[in-house]
Amino acid sequence: MSKEEKIRHLIGEVEEFTATAKEQVEAFRLKYLSKKGILAGLFAEMKTVEPSLKKDFGRLVNELKQKAEEKLEVLSEKLLGDDDDTGSESDLTLPAEPYQVGSRHPISLVRRKIIDIFSRIGFSVADGPEIEDDWHNFSALNFPENHPARDMQDTFFVDGGQKTKEGLALRTHTSSVQVRVMESTKPPIRILAPGRVYRNEAISARAHCFFHQVEGLYVDEQVSFADLKQTLLFFAREMFAADTRIRLRPSYFPFTEPSAEMDISCNICGGKGCNVCKYTGWVEILGCGMVDPNVLENCKIDPVKYSGFAFGMGIERIAMLKYQVKDLRLFSENDTRFLKQFRSVI
Ligand code: DAH
Repeated sequence: MSKEEKIRHLIGEVEEFTATAKEQVEAFRLKYLSKKGILAGLFAEMKTVEPSLKKDFGRLVNELKQKAEEKLEVLSEKLLGDDDDTGSESDLTLPAEPYQVGSRHPISLVRRKIIDIFSRIGFSVADGPEIEDDWHNFSALNFPENHPARDMQDTFFVDGGQKTKEGLALRTHTSSVQVRVMESTKPPIRILAPGRVYRNEAISARAHCFFHQVEGLYVDEQVSFADLKQTLLFFAREMFAADTRIRLRPSYFPFTEPSAEMDISCNICGGKGCNVCKYTGWVEILGCGMVDPNVLENCKIDPVKYSGFAFGMGIERIAMLKYQVKDLRLFSENDTRFLKQFRSVI
C-alpha cells in the first residue's frame, strides 16, 4: 500500500467511525489527534517525502486532519457534557426533570384576593395616576390649605410642586382615585382602587418610602354607616377567618365624617393576646368613614341626595398579618428565598 493509499484508507476509517460512549470518542481523539497520534506522525513524515509528491501528500494529510476534527466535534457534542444522564434523551419513559416555576409576589396575591372579595359584592376596579396634583391628592379631599392635616402625609413633590399652582407630587394615598372617579361618574359608584403610594419616610422594618394601598368607595342614595360596617365585616371574614371579629374606633381623616379605624381580632392568637397584637387581642388594618359632604360637593355630587362610605388599607399591612412577615423591606428587595415561599399560597 502506498503512502497515499494508506491515508485514503484512514480518511475512510474516520468517515465511518461512530461512537456510543464518550470513552470511544476519547480513544478516537488519542488515536488521530493527540501529540503522539497518527496525524502528528504524518506531519513529521512530511520532511521525508520527495519534493514532487509533497503537495499531494500535504493535501491528503490536511483532509484527514479536517475530517478527524469534524468527527471529534460532532461526537463530542453528542456524547460528552451529559455526564450523569447516560442515554436519558432516548429513554422517554424516565420522569421529567422538575421544572422550576416562578411565583406571584405576595403583594400581588393579597391585592388579587382583596379585589376578588369585593368584586363578589359589586365593586369594580378603578385606576389613577401615581403623579398626582394637589387637587386630587389633597384639596378635593378636604385637606384645608396650610392645615396641619397635610403634614399627616410626608410628600415627595415633583419639580418644585409644592410652590406651583398644580402642586404635582407622588400620590401619598389612593384616596386621590376616589376624587377622579366621583368627578367622572354618576352614582351609584362602587369602586376599589389598588395602587402604589409614596411617602417621604425613612426606610425601616415598619415604614417605607413606597408601599401599596387599596381604596374603597361606595356612593349611592341612603348609604349608611351600617353598610360600611357590614361590608368591612364581610371583607375581614373572607380575608382572614370566618370567626374574625371587627371593632371600629373613632378617628380623624379630613375626607370622612365620622371617621374610624378598624381593628380585627388578632388572627395569630385569636384574641387571647400575643406579641403580634401586643397582648391586646386586636390589630389595626384600615381607616374608613362616611364620605365628608364637602368632598361630594367638590366632585359635583349632591350631598343632600347622596351619601357614601370610603375605606383605605395598606396591602403590605394585610400581607404582613396574613403571612406573619415581620419586616416591610422584604416586599421590595426581591430576595428569591423570601419570594419562593409564596409559591402555593392563596
Ligand atoms: N388615605 C388614608 C391613608 O392613607 C386611608 C383612608 C382612611 C382612606 C380613611 C379612606 C378613609 O378612604 O375613609 O392613611
